[in-house]
Amino acid sequence: MTVTLLPFKAGLVVSAVLTTAVLTGVAVAIVKDRSQKSAVATAMTGGDETLAPAIFRRYGCSGCHTIPGVAGADGKVGGELNMVRERVYIGDGLNNTPDNLVRWIVSPTDFSKRTAMPVTGITETEARHVAAYLYAR
Ligand code: HEC
Repeated sequence: MTVTLLPFKAGLVVSAVLTTAVLTGVAVAIVKDRSQKSAVATAMTGGDETLAPAIFRRYGCSGCHTIPGVAGADGKVGGELNMVRERVYIGDGLNNTPDNLVRWIVSPTDFSKRTAMPVTGITETEARHVAAYLYAR
């Protein structure tokens, strides 16, 4: 009995070890990807993404936009602020560059007179922190 069970048990152990190895590999890849994106976003904007969640709340961004990873940011007035890195255009047909993103966040009405997004009073430095956050995701 033990003899016939042994290969089965060994097989289980091997597959458990393999599964763990694969899962660990995936987790490491995700963390690497995340920290790489974060580093690139910092380089692109000169901002500090860790400061962004408080800024999103202070200027009411979270009341109008759903923002992944920011608790309570579930606004539906503007679009969801996700995958900003992948977009070609932002706002009212602006090319998606770090400077344009920062300028849009500070003063959307400079680009579009009809936009429903108001000038919130956010400073350029704060907008860089926000841009770093958005590009890091
Ligand atoms: C009163 C609601 C409102 C507030 C407050 C607001 N937004 Fe917006 N936002 C909008 C709307 C509506 C749009 C779409 C604008 C358009 O296309 O004219 C927009 C567009 C954007 C875009 C361009 C995204 C895209 O989909 O192209 C970004 C980035 C953005 N907002 C960030 C912010 C940030 C950061 C804040 C806080 C400083 C903020 N918004 C505050 C309503 C708001």
